[in-house]
Amino acid sequence: MSRAADFKPFGVDISLDDGTMTDPDTHRIVKTSTMHGYYLDETALERLIEEHGDPVHYEVFEPKIPEQDGHVRTCISKLYPGRVGDECFFTKGHYHTKLHTAETYLCISGEGLMLMKTRDGECAWEPFRPGRMVYAPPCWAHRSVNTGDAPLVSFCNYPADAGHNYGDIVDEGFPMRVFIRDGEVVIE
Ligand code: PA5
Ligand code: NI
Repeated sequence: MSRAADFKPFGVDISLDDGTMTDPDTHRIVKTSTMHGYYLDETALERLIEEHGDPVHYEVFEPKIPEQDGHVRTCISKLYPGRVGDECFFTKGHYHTKLHTAETYLCISGEGLMLMKTRDGECAWEPFRPGRMVYAPPCWAHRSVNTGDAPLVSFCNYPADAGHNYGDIVDEGFPMRVFIRDGEVVIE
């Protein structure tokens, strides 16, 4: 019997109402103070942290699944609504360490979009709305953006050995940013 077959079947409960997972193995809470250098307006970020007591930016809930070939990692990503200046809250974004791996995101609630980019500078975005699946193909870095007033909740699935490469996005950033100006979503 293979090692993967030694892993026992299981299930988890996901609340479709509030975008949480019951008894996750890991619960990553990303505070606004860890987002230095990501947004266009650093002063607005500092003001937000000072005036609102370092609010939670997003949360990720994951069940225990080995990061091994053959498994599928899955998670709930819950990105809170908010602006840094007029720029919409987003997740840090990453390439997969194993670059040739894809990911599916099923939007459960909220509204926003997924920014995606390749290493050679090609950029794309896809809207998120409840019930819409967005596909981040192999080699495309991905970042969720919340353009609404409620949490943007997605259910994500990817090859378990994909890994997360955040460093290259810290260095490169994304060529597109998303703002709310005069009540309209502006992507530029
Ligand atoms: O694996 C994914 O792409 C997601 O589960 C993300 O990890 C999640 O949306 C949080 O974003 P990030 O990993 O860029 O901080
Ligand atoms: Ni990913």
